[in-house]
Amino acid sequence: MPILTIEGHGPVTVTAGTRLVNAIEDAGVDILHRCGGHAKCTTCRVDFLDGEPDQMTQAESDKLESKGDLGQYRLSCQSLVLEDMHVQPLMRLTGSGMDDAGPRPEDDITPDPVWLDEV
Ligand code: FES
Repeated sequence: MPILTIEGHGPVTVTAGTRLVNAIEDAGVDILHRCGGHAKCTTCRVDFLDGEPDQMTQAESDKLESKGDLGQYRLSCQSLVLEDMHVQPLMRLTGSGMDDAGPRPEDDITPDPVWLDEV
């Protein structure tokens, strides 16, 4: 099973195919996911220090491009943990002034992913 390392936290073992945003939250890190994992809010953004996926969903690409942020960070709600990864969550509930992190994203990527090769 893949090892997920979250900057500032110990590594955790994750069931292959787990949505990255949920794996981070389940590891005890209060990552934001304000739109519930629908590639709408970008609060689930992460930097990949290692193991960045080669594929990107069309929804992630469209959202990042619309904000002019393509290449700046990735959306953890649009990635699955399929291999070892090392990530830095960029927006957390702590210090955000928000009441909660957002609705729990579904287990599967939403919207239904259309995969683009090559990031
Ligand atoms: S873009 Fe909103 S949770 Fe990922």
